[in-house]
Amino acid sequence: MKLLIDKPTDTLQRPLRDLRISVTDRCNFRCIYCMPKHLFGPDHAFLERAQILSFEEIARAVHLFASLGVSKIRITGGEPLIRKDLEKLINMISQVDNINDISLTTNGALLTQQKADSLVAAGVNRLTLSLDALDDECFKQINDVKFPVSRVLDAIDIAKQAGLSPVKVNMVVIKDVNVDQILPMVEYFRHKDVILRFIEFMDVGSTNQWQYDKVFNAKSIIELINNHYPIEPVTANYQGEVAKRWRYKDGGGEIGIIASVSQPFCGSCHRARLSAEGKLYTCLFANTGYDLRELIRSRANDQVILDKLHAIWSKREDRYSQLRGEHDAAKEKIEMSYIGG
Ligand code: GTP
Ligand code: 5AD
Ligand code: SF4
Ligand code: SF4
Repeated sequence: MKLLIDKPTDTLQRPLRDLRISVTDRCNFRCIYCMPKHLFGPDHAFLERAQILSFEEIARAVHLFASLGVSKIRITGGEPLIRKDLEKLINMISQVDNINDISLTTNGALLTQQKADSLVAAGVNRLTLSLDALDDECFKQINDVKFPVSRVLDAIDIAKQAGLSPVKVNMVVIKDVNVDQILPMVEYFRHKDVILRFIEFMDVGSTNQWQYDKVFNAKSIIELINNHYPIEPVTANYQGEVAKRWRYKDGGGEIGIIASVSQPFCGSCHRARLSAEGKLYTCLFANTGYDLRELIRSRANDQVILDKLHAIWSKREDRYSQLRGEHDAAKEKIEMSYIGG
C-alpha cells in the first residue's frame, strides 16, 4: 500500500527534523543534577523489560518519522551503552531511507575500543561524551559513583581512535559546583580536536533542585574564557543548531555554548523525543507524552500511525524555555534520565 505522506510543521511553523531516542532509563552514574542518589536508589522503579521498546519497534518508529522529515537521530539514555547489542539497533536505523546522521550521547564508562569500533561499523558517525570537571574530586562529587576523570579521558581517546573525530564533550556548568573547572577544561581540550560545550544548568525534571541562581550563564562563561583565551563567534553549522559556536583566535579549536536558560532557542526547535517505553515528547520540558508503544503494539498499520504522528506535530505549541517562569512550577516534568537530554 502506498503511504500518503505530507511533512508536518507545528503551530510555530517548525518542521520535524531530529528524533532523539532514549534506549534505557537506567544509568551507571548518579549525577547530582540528573539522578540524585536519594531519589534514584535501589528501590527506584526503573522501566521493566516488557515496557521497553524492542529494536524492531524503535526501527519501525524511525522509519515512520523519517517519512515525516526526520533525518537526524541521536541515541540517548539514561546511559545508552547499558542497552545490550546497541549496535544492532544502530545498524537497523542506518538502513532507513532519509536518515543521514546517527549520533550518540554517553558518559563513556562502557566505551571500550571494541564497542566504539562496532558502533562506528554499524553507522554511528558522531559521539558526544559528558564530562563536568577535570579535577577528580570534583567530578566524583558530581557523578556520585566515584568514577574517575581518567576513564572518561580514555573514552574520549577511544572515540577518536574509532574515527569519530572531532568528538564533542558536554560540561554542565553549575555555580558553586564546577565553575572553577571551566578554565582547566578549556586548557586541557584546546588543540585536541575536541569540541568542548558548556551547558547552562537547566530546570529539567523535578528532582534536581534547580534554582535560577545556580545558573552560571553563557555571558559569564564567554567572558571568563575570553579573558584568558580570546575567542570569536563562528557561524552555525545549520539553522537551529543548539550550541552557539566559538573558536579560539589562536587556532586552538572550537567550543560551544548551550544557553537554554539565558538565550532560549525554541524558535528553531525541530526535535522530537522518544522515551525507552515508547512515549513521544515534543519538548524536553513536557509533562505528558503520547503513547506510541500502544499504537505500535496494536495492529495499527503505518498509515494510521503516520496520521497520528502528523496530527501530534501539527498541533505542537511547545516553547518552554522562552516562557520559563510563566509555567506552573507544581507540574511534574519528565526527568532528564528518562528522556535523555
Ligand atoms: P548536534 O548539534 O547534532 O551535535 O547536537 P546537539 O548540539 O543537540 O547535541 P547534544 O545532543 O549533545 O545536545 C547538547 C545538550 O543540549 C543536551 O544534552 C541538552 O542538555 C541540550 N539540549 C539539546 N536539545 C535541547 C532542546 O531541544 N531544548 C533544550 N532546552 N535543551 C536542549
Ligand atoms: N541541565 C543541563 N544539562 C543536563 N544534562 C543532564 N541534566 C542536565 C541539566 N539539568 C546533560 C548531561 C549530558 C546531556 C545528556 O545532558 O550532562 O551531557
Ligand atoms: Fe549523569 Fe547522564 Fe547518567 Fe544523567 S544520564 S546520571 S547526566 S551520566
Ligand atoms: Fe525545544 Fe522545548 Fe527545548 Fe524549547 S524548551 S528548545 S521547545 S525542547
